Amino acid sequence: GAPVEVDISTLNPGEMKTVEWRGKPVWILRRTPEMIASLKQTDGKVADAESKRNPAEFTPEYARNEWRSIKPEILVAVGICTHLGCSPSSKFAPGPQPSLPDDWAGGFLCPCHGSTFDLAGRVFKNKPAPDNLQVPRHMYLSDTKLVIG
Ligand code: FES
Repeated sequence: GAPVEVDISTLNPGEMKTVEWRGKPVWILRRTPEMIASLKQTDGKVADAESKRNPAEFTPEYARNEWRSIKPEILVAVGICTHLGCSPSSKFAPGPQPSLPDDWAGGFLCPCHGSTFDLAGRVFKNKPAPDNLQVPRHMYLSDTKLVIG
């Protein structure tokens, strides 16, 4: 599939857009400072905090960090659950929600079997999904232009 160019100049903090790449939904989330800070709190609760599992498939080298991204504020991730391929929903609202981890700062919830992912797409412990959400190959052409693929 051809690479996809995305203009992120209109993406405000806390907003996410979805683009299609190779027939898959790719999420681009501009994280707020609070969202970035929340990753410190989920570090101990996720199964693979440093994205060491199957890194060649799921996390390009430049995203093998706590944010799983090139820029801390921009997450680029394939919106397909690594369990059986359902599409997780996004939940950015803080506060308690039934059946979600306590003090969850928000993230992604797969409706099929309940896997939850933090705001870096890292899967929480003891969930059916074996891996973090895939970070596709991507790079920046400028501050506001991203290429996926
Ligand atoms: Fe997402 Fe099973 S497909 S938890």
